[in-house]
Amino acid sequence: MPALVLLGAQWGDEGKGKATDLLGGSVDYVVRYQGGNNAGHTVVVGDQKYALHLLPSGILSPGCTPVIGNGVVVDPSVLLSELSGLNERGVDTSKLLLSGNAHIITPYNVTVDKVTERFLGKRKIGTTGRGIGPTYADKINRVGIRVQDLYDESILTQKVEAALDVKNQILTKLYNRRAMAVDQAVEELLGYADKLAPYVADTVLVINQALEEDKVVLFEGGQGTLLDIDHGTYPFVTSSNPTAGGACTGAGVGPTKISRVIGILKAYTTRVGAGPFPTELFDEDGEALRRIGGERGVTTGRDRRCGWFDAVIARYATRVNGLTDFFLTKLDVLTGWEQIPVCVAYEIDGKRVEELPYSQTDFHHAKPVYEMLPGWSEDISKAKSFSDLPKNAQNYVKALEEMSGAPISAIGVGPGRDETIEINSFL
Ligand code: GDP
Ligand code: IMO
Ligand code: MG
Repeated sequence: MPALVLLGAQWGDEGKGKATDLLGGSVDYVVRYQGGNNAGHTVVVGDQKYALHLLPSGILSPGCTPVIGNGVVVDPSVLLSELSGLNERGVDTSKLLLSGNAHIITPYNVTVDKVTERFLGKRKIGTTGRGIGPTYADKINRVGIRVQDLYDESILTQKVEAALDVKNQILTKLYNRRAMAVDQAVEELLGYADKLAPYVADTVLVINQALEEDKVVLFEGGQGTLLDIDHGTYPFVTSSNPTAGGACTGAGVGPTKISRVIGILKAYTTRVGAGPFPTELFDEDGEALRRIGGERGVTTGRDRRCGWFDAVIARYATRVNGLTDFFLTKLDVLTGWEQIPVCVAYEIDGKRVEELPYSQTDFHHAKPVYEMLPGWSEDISKAKSFSDLPKNAQNYVKALEEMSGAPISAIGVGPGRDETIEINSFL
């Protein structure tokens, strides 16, 4: 029963969409298990480019059933517009399954996300403003609205009342905003019920039955390891668990079912939003990575912060996720540098540190210790096998593999489906 988890090994935007899409043709189900439309996953198929936020990237592979698991937070308006956008482009979305236990991003949660960030001012997280944090907070506070609540008006009204009781106090008394009306929120939510009904399912049962029938299931993470609420650079994180364990809780599968955990790893590092980032560059190299790598957010259009590869982070991702493989992406972007610095350790208050410090204060003080690796100038975008790569590119990959603690089983040399070097098969 092959069950693969595919997740971001850094701060998101590693190329998860491309990697999922690449495997989409060979898997039966692709399941999103956490996050929501804060994600932006780009898939390039031939001359067509798709930006997916909520839908699993498997939606573009005709044989594959896309599933939105219970751990995802769902903005119904975004889901419906994403579906109709794909339908207009000729993509069949009828197989989609949506967990009845997934929590709904309500209009008031989007408002709370935005006003909280404004209120925080300089201390803001730099969220995507999509209501992710407040929706997960409601879930944990047990005042969340679930997809199944759309089908019981009385329960829905009671739950919205309970949630707005507290929220309206905060909105009016703390943030100086207008209170939100219960009726209006209920009416808006009920308006989605019929449109979502064809997709709603007991996804936990479906996924586990599929595994029993030896179907191939791929769990697609959003965000990345360092944005994990437990294992990331808290508080500069998202409000869910993108790490491998999140696939179990967010989809309802036991850890014994997972056979492989693939970390998507960019050949350099990027980050969107606030928070520590030891290898961040503020010079022309950072600018060049941004330009050549097209490092602009798919969801918010913000420029991504760019820096050199950080092996301390990659090692950490191997550990907290139990990674079995890496998929190294965007190696092509590094073409043209004479020498490429790679962060092998940190210096923290005068001491060399090999592993990610658990203390936030220490991490804020971490300065990268670089090793210089020789670069290459040949175009690598047409490389089909590892031996097609110039020697120095091969050595860069081997060095990263050695430092990161898991085999690099695939290498991305361009955004397209076929711009990939497969070293070990994932299936
Ligand atoms: P995700 O959020 O992890 O799915 O990643 P994003 O889609 O936000 O950002 C990754 C970007 O890199 C997208 O524009 C992809 O099309 C692009 N991409 C993915 N793999 C490669 C690669 O190997 N080389 C190049 N040049 N671009 C890539
Ligand atoms: P994908 O799936 C990169 C970042 C935001 C912010 C922090 C919290 O495309 O890799 P949130 O709206 O989640 O409460 O914001 O997390 N963030 C991402 N950064 N890629 C993403 O998704 C992200 N999703 C959230 O920028 O710093
Ligand atoms: Mg992204």
